[in-house]
Amino acid sequence: MLDEYRTALVTGASRGIGAAFARQLAAQGLDLVLVARSEAELQALADELAERHGVMAHVLVADLSAPSAAASLYRDVQALDLEIDLLVNNAGYSKAGLFAELAFDVQAGMVRLNVNTLVELTRLFLPDMRQRGRGGVINVASNAAFQPVPYMAVYAATKAFVLSFSEALAEEVAGDGVRVMALCPGATDTEFWTVAGTWQERRASMPGPGEVVAAGLRAFERGRSFFVPGFVNQVVAFFSSRVLPRRLVARLASQWFRDRG
Ligand SMILES: NC(=O)c1ccc[n+]([C@@H]2O[C@H](COP(=O)([O-])OP(=O)(O)OC[C@H]3O[C@@H](n4cnc5c(N)ncnc54)[C@H](OP(=O)(O)O)[C@@H]3O)[C@@H](O)[C@H]2O)c1
Repeated sequence: MLDEYRTALVTGASRGIGAAFARQLAAQGLDLVLVARSEAELQALADELAERHGVMAHVLVADLSAPSAAASLYRDVQALDLEIDLLVNNAGYSKAGLFAELAFDVQAGMVRLNVNTLVELTRLFLPDMRQRGRGGVINVASNAAFQPVPYMAVYAATKAFVLSFSEALAEEVAGDGVRVMALCPGATDTEFWTVAGTWQERRASMPGPGEVVAAGLRAFERGRSFFVPGFVNQVVAFFSSRVLPRRLVARLASQWFRDRG
């Protein structure tokens, strides 16, 4: 599947899981469009990948939480005369704390980035893929998609949206030669936790983004509509979404974050 693709666009490619996607896709010979706000980091990665793998790596700097960001990014890609075969909607963030006390701007920006822009980018690039009869979308959700998470209430809700949206879309486009998958990582060792403002001390025990992305790409190749990397995360996702009473799941998640936050 991936060997049929020529160009991938990765949002949030300046570090963490997005940069790992960029590295692994470049290693498979795909040209790249790298998107985030940090121009220097994106350019350094683009230069590294072009030199190491001989691929083309374009940098597009954008704040994807801005309401017009998706349309403007799509126009920029068209101006470069590129066809995107694989869209990786990865950019996202969380902020830990009580919903009633966290700044609303931060939460609204999170919804715009994690949900609105992801949906709009998908809506913009998907018709081109269907027309070509070839393409894929990987939406980075989270293990938080499978349960409500007190102290990350808005974040977990955005990821539940991404999971549901991706699974529905995977079914809609199943006959079009296009694949859609939600990747649902558990806690991963990235700057996500610095931005979220919690769990810094636990980062050393988390898997790195390279491991998560390698498993995710293998699942995408197998045609999965969603994938949870790691056995323990799979068990947690299964029990919290399919077995335990919903109120108990919310209470357990609450203790997990309140005690360790
Ligand atoms: N790490 C985890 O434990 C974990 C677990 C499950 C799911 N995830 C999900 O994985 C995805 C990637 O997170 P990560 O762990 O790699 O975190 P990260 O290291 O903080 O990376 C986040 C990426 O998103 C970009 N980004 C943030 N805000 C942006 C904006 N307004 N416009 C454009 N780009 C923006 C950042 O680049 P700039 O700052 O340069 O813009 C960065 O490249 C997110 O969707 C996250 O929810 C993470």
